[in-house]
Amino acid sequence: MASLFHVFFLLSFSLAVCRKDPSESAGTTTILDVAAALKKSTQALAFDPRRAHQQLLDKEELTTTLRYSASTADLLLQLYSRDFLPLPNNFTTTHRDYESLTLARLRRDSARVRSIAARVAFAIDGSNSKPAKAAAMLDSIQGTIVSGNSQGSGEYFSRVGIGRPAKPQFMVLDTGSDINWVQCQPCTDCYKQADPIYDPTGSDTYAPLRCSSEPCHSLDYAACRNATCRYEVVYGDGSFSSGELATETLTIGDAPPVTNVPMGCGFDNEGIFVAAGGLLALGAGRLSFPSHLPSHSFTYCLVDRDTPGTSTIDFGPPTAQPEASTITTKLLRSKKIPTFYYVELTGISVGGTQLPIPPSALAIDADGSGGVIVDSGTAVSRLNMQVYEPFRDAFVKGTRHLPPGTGPDIFDACYNLSAMTKVQVPSVSFHFGEGKVLKLRGKNFLLPVDSKGNFCLAFAKTSSPLNIIGNVQHQGMRVVIAVENSMVSFTPNKC
Ligand SMILES: *[C@@H]1O[C@H](CO)[C@@H](O)[C@H](O)[C@H]1NC(C)=O
Ligand SMILES: *[C@@H]1O[C@H](CO)[C@@H](O)[C@H](O)[C@H]1NC(C)=O
Ligand SMILES: *[C@@H]1O[C@H](CO)[C@@H](O)[C@H](O)[C@H]1NC(C)=O
Repeated sequence: MASLFHVFFLLSFSLAVCRKDPSESAGTTTILDVAAALKKSTQALAFDPRRAHQQLLDKEELTTTLRYSASTADLLLQLYSRDFLPLPNNFTTTHRDYESLTLARLRRDSARVRSIAARVAFAIDGSNSKPAKAAAMLDSIQGTIVSGNSQGSGEYFSRVGIGRPAKPQFMVLDTGSDINWVQCQPCTDCYKQADPIYDPTGSDTYAPLRCSSEPCHSLDYAACRNATCRYEVVYGDGSFSSGELATETLTIGDAPPVTNVPMGCGFDNEGIFVAAGGLLALGAGRLSFPSHLPSHSFTYCLVDRDTPGTSTIDFGPPTAQPEASTITTKLLRSKKIPTFYYVELTGISVGGTQLPIPPSALAIDADGSGGVIVDSGTAVSRLNMQVYEPFRDAFVKGTRHLPPGTGPDIFDACYNLSAMTKVQVPSVSFHFGEGKVLKLRGKNFLLPVDSKGNFCLAFAKTSSPLNIIGNVQHQGMRVVIAVENSMVSFTPNKC
């Protein structure tokens, strides 16, 4: 009986292998599971933030009790995606339908990309006359708040313990900036947040930094008041934080606290950081949180944007051995912009054919403009015109068999897949240095934009020379960023 079963199993297995489409195994096509994507988009709208918040509080009570007996030393945090934050009800916006959820995400995304472009422009043009340029930039950016374009900052959030004793706060996790900060008492102007505002007088380890300190010199925009260092950090969507630069203890999960982390104590803060108490900066620059860890590395996985589950970010040294499917590539740095994680993308292929992209369109030039960064806060990847046009044209050419659909203006290629459950589409792969190829899954490049079955190619053009690999393109992969070893790796299908 056992051997009969065995034969049957082998037989059905080999049949399945035979039936697999040859173009898929050759890497020229991939399958998009339309039905699964649509089902998830419906579930996304049913999320109950209040219930999740209660569960979080119950769990936190439990972990605080357990913390001191825990043997684990992992610097591990749960990552919540913005649309599934466990918050009291009055903090969250509920969306009428999936289309309005998509539009809200895309508006935030455009603000994010503008903010990155402003950073780059400032770094490149502003290096000769920093203070004057910074002041001019602050004026122009603060002007945008008035235009009401603030959609809120942050796509991924975690609970971080601030001070000693540690007070848990929701923090925005941001790979595109270097200055950690929290809203701080006494507030001149603080926006509403979910947890009580941090009060440095309640912490044993809060220590203001002097103007002559090294972290104070690392700031782009610093001032000195009463011998202590003042910071101001401005994001391109109009949000900002300003106050005193200090060092403080941060607690990540159950691990021993990390001491002396430079952190802004923000007395004046504006922006819609969706109830978060502040921001944990994950950039590559000197003031960021990871740069204060011995390994200066972190590993994360972003869950699917429509799944209310959490994923993790681990600040310990990369422990997992690379797997057969792991793609490892060089981490590049720009002398002008120390914050961003640049990768050596050398090409893109569609349907197994590499596109005619001039190498200069993907490289950082002598000025420090251009290149390709990985940014978890940008959703849809941005490509400059020399890269985007051949990419879009090749994809459109390879999808003539699909019924055209409609979608937001930012997208050029949309399909009406409402009559399908699964569809075969041209594969899309990123080519990195040394011939490494990362093949994307269908859901990493075709996004549902409403609940009616319209899907769009989730790449967009940018007038900036800087290319950005966004979170839609690296969801569901384990990403390792190791500054010390100058390497980045991607392991598909591993969250
Ligand atoms: C939400 O409600 C609580 C309790 O009613 C209140 O303390 C808090 O300020 C409210 N938050 C916002 C953002 O309105
Ligand atoms: C400046 O520092 C001194 C001594 O630390 C303190 O007494 C004073 O209140 C401070 N002034 C302001 C404006 O913070
Ligand atoms: C999409 O396709 C379906 C079925 O093929 C059709 O009923 C529907 O009208 C189409 N939607 C649009 C917006 O064209």
